[in-house]
Amino acid sequence: MIRTVPTKPFTDQKPGTSGLRKKVPEFQQEHYAENFIQSIFDALEGFQGKTLVIGGDGRFYNREVIQKAIAIAAGNGFGKVMVGQGGILSTPAASNIIRKYKTFGGIILSASHNPGGPHEDFGIKYNAGNGGPAPEKITDAIFAKSKEINSFKIADIGTIDIDTIGTVKAGDMTVEIFDSVKDYAELMESLFDFDALKKLFKSGFRLRFDAMHAVTGPYAKEIFEHRLGAPNGTCRNFKPLPDFGGHHPDPNLVHAKHLYDEMMGADAPDFGAASDGDGDRNLIIGRGIFVTPSDSVAMLAANAKLAPGYKDGLKGIARSMPTSGAADRVAEKLGIGIYETPTGWKFFGNLLDAGMATICGEESAGTGSNHVREKDGLWAVLLWLNILAVRGESCKEIVTEHWATYGRNYYSRHDYEEVESDRANALVDELRAKLGSLPGTSVRGLKITKADDFAYHDPVDGSVSEHQGIRILFEGGSRVVLRLSGTGTSGATLRVYIERYEPDTARHDLDTQAALADLIAAADDIAGIKSHTGRDKPSVIT
Ligand code: G1P
Ligand code: ZN
Repeated sequence: MIRTVPTKPFTDQKPGTSGLRKKVPEFQQEHYAENFIQSIFDALEGFQGKTLVIGGDGRFYNREVIQKAIAIAAGNGFGKVMVGQGGILSTPAASNIIRKYKTFGGIILSASHNPGGPHEDFGIKYNAGNGGPAPEKITDAIFAKSKEINSFKIADIGTIDIDTIGTVKAGDMTVEIFDSVKDYAELMESLFDFDALKKLFKSGFRLRFDAMHAVTGPYAKEIFEHRLGAPNGTCRNFKPLPDFGGHHPDPNLVHAKHLYDEMMGADAPDFGAASDGDGDRNLIIGRGIFVTPSDSVAMLAANAKLAPGYKDGLKGIARSMPTSGAADRVAEKLGIGIYETPTGWKFFGNLLDAGMATICGEESAGTGSNHVREKDGLWAVLLWLNILAVRGESCKEIVTEHWATYGRNYYSRHDYEEVESDRANALVDELRAKLGSLPGTSVRGLKITKADDFAYHDPVDGSVSEHQGIRILFEGGSRVVLRLSGTGTSGATLRVYIERYEPDTARHDLDTQAALADLIAAADDIAGIKSHTGRDKPSVIT
């Protein structure tokens, strides 16, 4: 039986680029999740009798919302839902299922790298039929629907057993519970040389993968240890926990410091990696060397041809604007297109769909390719391993050789978190107002060649996205970028991205912060960061 349940709108259900993100208690309010899921369906058309994919990263409240989503999908006339066993699907795996089985779309439950638990974060995101996050047109429509909703449709189907693989009927709808890992593992097998990787592990190569108690655990266990024969124990923290063991499932040098320390230690494994809550981000650390995400995308692109899935070469590379220019030098050498997009994975979708870009990356530890429409943590790790296996060199050798060939882009991001919104906005407004007067002037002996407020003209659909971050370019390829985060939950987060290009191999082993010191000081001179924020140093340096 299908019931139409009266409800009242919540006014705060505005999905961002990563869907609707709120604290668990907000999602637990009566009808809160129901309203949002119904609003997604209200914003879509033509799904009667079609298939919807549902899965999440296993965080607290995942199982409850999966049951609600199944029942509301049945109430709205979907023909079938495909649910990852146990409600588990990494974000890239969900993207793959949507594409592989040509489903109408999918609902992914995650708050990415944010902590989980009864008082932590939860999220609901809709991905369209191309496997990528819903474009702004759809997220705007969902928000509009959420403000006028007065009822939702739900089928009385009882609790569905989501732990047993198989197909059951739920009212008029079919529910298929499938192996969350198998299709994804097969996709990886189709892209990478698994025989070469098996040989690598057989030869004694040591990988350390930290799943951070999040969704990639079962995927990594299956791929590295079962299919590739890496020794038991290669994967650490591989059991997904609703609260991620009380940690932030954020693979950076702060939250995965133990991995960094191990990789810098005397008995370090050959290669270390980690992924985030929902499996789309990656951290790459070779023995004795951390690879910045900006460098990683450049190095993966430069060597991608060594993996079977990319043997015919790349169509183009896309990077978000604040990501370093290291990838640009690779694209130039390969004679392929380079696209500079605003921050956020959704801007890569058109370029990938149009066949203009093959590999994409963001400085925030997101790397991926045209194999899905999300960034993909394990994909990045496997491509690195494939390159290491074929070249027979260490990660450190590959990195230093890359710098010798292309030059090194020293890079760092300084975040000022929870700044009062008014103060952060004043900083940006004042800086914007003086952009025109900056070119030609020098600050701390550094000559400014260009200063602008980045606007993106999408080459595929012609749309224009303005105010995507302020760029200040210096002579010699150095750069400072300032923008306000679009994902923060309290106050404003100011991100300052600093980059210096160093062609001289003799100066490739400097300390990053020291190498960037004059640019950091120049950024403060130009934008008045300390005076505006009232802080004398950033909250996080990556
Ligand atoms: C941050 C990252 C961005 C990423 C997004 C979603 O957004 O900077 O690269 O795409 O999270 O994972 P921001 O908070 O900077 O707007
Ligand atoms: Zn994520």
